[in-house]
Amino acid sequence: MSGFLDIYHRRIDYMRISVTDRCDLNCIYCTEKAVPRLSHDDILRYEEIQKIVQAAVRLGVRGLRITGGEPLVRPNVSALVNLLVNMKDIDDITLTTNGTLLYKYAKELKEAGLKRVNISLDTLKKERYKEITGSDRLGEVFSSIEAAQEIGLTPVKINTVVMREMNDDEVIDFARMSISNSWNVRFIEMMPLVHMKSGNNKLVSVAEIKAVIEKSLGILQPCLTTSGRGPAKYYRLPHAEGTIGFIGPVTECFCNTCNRFRLTADGRLRPCLLEDDEIDIKTSIRTGANIDTLVELMRQAALLKRKGHRLNGEYTPGQRQMWQIGG
Ligand code: GTP
Ligand code: 5AD
Repeated sequence: MSGFLDIYHRRIDYMRISVTDRCDLNCIYCTEKAVPRLSHDDILRYEEIQKIVQAAVRLGVRGLRITGGEPLVRPNVSALVNLLVNMKDIDDITLTTNGTLLYKYAKELKEAGLKRVNISLDTLKKERYKEITGSDRLGEVFSSIEAAQEIGLTPVKINTVVMREMNDDEVIDFARMSISNSWNVRFIEMMPLVHMKSGNNKLVSVAEIKAVIEKSLGILQPCLTTSGRGPAKYYRLPHAEGTIGFIGPVTECFCNTCNRFRLTADGRLRPCLLEDDEIDIKTSIRTGANIDTLVELMRQAALLKRKGHRLNGEYTPGQRQMWQIGG
């Protein structure tokens, strides 16, 4: 069996790779504090990422997810997919995107070997989309969902962060979309990070979201077969083509089954999303470290993984904002 066992006996076999800290949206929960963006030189080149992935594969990583910022604002992401897909022992390459550009690149990404995409979408309303993201690009996101479906970047997963008095009145509309489309519509609890002015007061729990859906649309049947390496739990509404997923980092902490670590665009290994621990791998790679050294750094990063997050009052991570980590 692949994977590296951490000190809590979790099998680490999944790496999230952020390819840029830039994003073409400005979502209210993501970018509340102005921080200068990375310069071209700070960012790992594709060949450097490939080398790091070689080391990750040696450690046991088999699944990769490309993230950002918004990954597709970086030129030629399909070239990176192509480099990675041809590496021995990588069996799954996926991408998380805000969907504003995907419709342009879906075909070439698929041809390069990308398996599927997760698309972030927090509202179905044009005006509200502008309020949440600062941009008027809802139409592009719908085109991207359509393109991903048509081209076979499937199952298409929609990521919806539910926020109190911001979009919680759209839960039913989103859930309904799983009835006639073969999408995975996933509701995500908002995670508090230090920089968020709104803090935790916009949190809507998975239990509450589920109750709202079941009251209007019927009982959610647990769904056993699902694609993905992530923390979502899946259900299906009666007679639905697609599924509904729930990701509850705050009220249903899933750290005990965590299987991943992260590589930031500026070359830091980040063992946990919600802790500020990091290991610099870029300096090593730029000073000629061999693959054994890279594997060792990665082992150290995996060993730093905490047993569980400490969001419940004890600690709020905040060195980096979400766009600097990649979700
Ligand atoms: P698949 O299940 O393979 O489709 O992917 P995924 O759910 O891991 O990826 P995606 O990028 O779509 O992430 C969905 C949500 O889960 C985002 O809000 C992430 O921030 C959150 N998430 C992903 N990994 C972690 C994690 O390790 N810890 C926490 N707390 N949240 C995570
Ligand atoms: N809490 C929960 N999810 C978040 N995302 C970004 N910021 C947060 C947050 N504070 C989501 C995005 C995207 C995914 C990668 O992470 O909406 O779907």
